Amino acid sequence: MFTFGLAGFPVGHSLSPWIHEQLMEQTGVEGKYHLFEITPEDFDEQIDQIKKQQLDGFNVTVPYKEKIIPYLDGIDASAEQLGAVNTVKRTSDGWIGYNTDGTGFLHSLQARFPDLFHQKINVLLLGSGGAARGIFAALMDQAEVKVDVANRTISRAEAMITETGGDHAARAVTIEEAEQAAGGYDLIIQTTTVGMSPNDDTSIMPLQNIKEGTVVSDIVYRPVMTSFLKEAEEKGARLHFGHEMLLQQAVYAFQIWTDLHPEAHPLLEKFERKLKGE
Ligand code: ATR
Repeated sequence: MFTFGLAGFPVGHSLSPWIHEQLMEQTGVEGKYHLFEITPEDFDEQIDQIKKQQLDGFNVTVPYKEKIIPYLDGIDASAEQLGAVNTVKRTSDGWIGYNTDGTGFLHSLQARFPDLFHQKINVLLLGSGGAARGIFAALMDQAEVKVDVANRTISRAEAMITETGGDHAARAVTIEEAEQAAGGYDLIIQTTTVGMSPNDDTSIMPLQNIKEGTVVSDIVYRPVMTSFLKEAEEKGARLHFGHEMLLQQAVYAFQIWTDLHPEAHPLLEKFERKLKGE
């Protein structure tokens, strides 16, 4: 019997309980997944309370992915590099933090497009927030790529590249420059919050210049089909959806906690139907 949870604020609409119940069912284990809504004023006290419970591990979401670190007994290399933790495991050495966001993204993309990284590709990464950072680091670690990072605040893009050790393979550009150069990218990754429900009809950048066959990914998963992805599809792009990343990062968290290896793929369609409210 496993017990997991999610610490964040707010967490009421989280899809994590549903996902982890599916993963438990797939692997044939029993368990529970609790939601811990922690108000910022009570963070200290509530984290202490959580750690006293019979938990095997818990996820951490906004706004606590950085704040949790001093409360842990150790963090692995990926979380250390990012300065952010989304998964915590109880071990004999205490509470250890991990970050599965970047690898979750990259591996869900590779699952859909196995040949994508077989040659050196040009990537456009839109955004420089927490989500972009994890994806950028995973790209730098695992793939032979040249990356343009475009962000509304270009100084944040520059800082992200330098702090994540990506100067050799990446440069910061404005969103306007990226739009002009869009025909030169093989992979475009949208990591900003633009286009997220209820602002479904907004998009970070027009895609009229992209070439056919470009892989376009949006990590926004509400709605499943963002305006950005809709335009990409109209231009003949191949699409990668936000819920594919969400599912894969949860699979890796589950793997860290249980040493079991569930698969994301068999759940994708069911998850998409759930997100669409069908
Ligand atoms: P997360 O951790 O979810 O990535 P974040 O750290 O708040 O969230 O980052 C949000 C990203 O969306 C940033 O790249 C942000 O751009 P800035 O760095 O310029 O703030 C981007 N973003 C949010 N709202 C935006 C908007 N209206 N137009 C353009 N970019 C926006």
